[in-house]
Amino acid sequence: TQLLHIVQNMPKAELHIHIEGSLEPELIFALAQRNGVPLSYPSVDALRAAYDFHDLQSFLDIYYAGASVLLKEQDFYDMTAAYLAKAKADHVRHTEIFFDPQTHTARGVPIGDVINGIHRACADSDVSATLILCFLRHLSEEDAFATLDAALPYRDKFIGVGLDSSEVGHPPEKFERVFARCRELGLHLVAHAGEEGPPAYIRAALDLLHVERIDHGVRCLEDVDLTRRIASEKMALTVCPLSNIKLRVFDHMREHNLLQLLDAGLVATVNSDDPAYFRGYVNANYVAAFESLPLGLQHAHQLAKNSFAASFLPQAEKDKYL
Ligand code: ADE
Ligand code: ZN
Repeated sequence: TQLLHIVQNMPKAELHIHIEGSLEPELIFALAQRNGVPLSYPSVDALRAAYDFHDLQSFLDIYYAGASVLLKEQDFYDMTAAYLAKAKADHVRHTEIFFDPQTHTARGVPIGDVINGIHRACADSDVSATLILCFLRHLSEEDAFATLDAALPYRDKFIGVGLDSSEVGHPPEKFERVFARCRELGLHLVAHAGEEGPPAYIRAALDLLHVERIDHGVRCLEDVDLTRRIASEKMALTVCPLSNIKLRVFDHMREHNLLQLLDAGLVATVNSDDPAYFRGYVNANYVAAFESLPLGLQHAHQLAKNSFAASFLPQAEKDKYL
């Protein structure tokens, strides 16, 4: 339809994409072969067939296993270049890419190889792309501090930090000190909150971590006061519709609360999260939401506008799109 055509072709920014989540099964197999890494699946099809999740943790287990084929700087380059080509095809003009260094340094990969490989692909792309280093919240704050220290020689190659991995049981307060340090360093701050975790985790991310955006945040609607606050502070939510269905945050796209978030005046955006695992890059997320929810042209324009407004682009760059 005309609306879906407009939605797919409109210029947009992507603000919630884990680069390791863009690793397609074909590339996992190619890198496994190139690096001599054994895989527990006999074929690309068998691996893809294992992408049947029932919650966040069941996804994370497979996502970390997939990332185990990444060893060399060139591997990180190839993965990132493949994502940027998909983003360009979806009319993404600017993307802020998450990466999980601890997933790789735990296997002995130098953090410089991780950052340089991803960064070099961004520099070679004609899509504007910046990087956000994410701390794994199932690990300790001490481990996060060590990761930050190891990354500081590459400070010019990332613009901010985030917080991801297993949410429930690992509340934001666990990372209050390391986020304070990142704030002093002038890094932008974001955190996953309110994906599987309760509204209290969103409050803690705002009050204790001082984040500038909430990743997911869809559970905020369970708390009327919190919803009002997020609206009045123009705090953006980076919503990932297909992810929320695949990880069973909502049973069906018809039940997704994207429209309620927009109706509550929130700066909601649409993003892909882990497109290789949830079977859809950013446009597939827009299309799935627009096909299942009563969203119209005004919503499409609002979502595109929100994606640039909520980005960390300099104001003059944002103004070109707003
Ligand atoms: N790591 C990759 N994708 C994630 C998600 N949706 N939530 C938490 N951690 C993640
Ligand atoms: Zn995510």
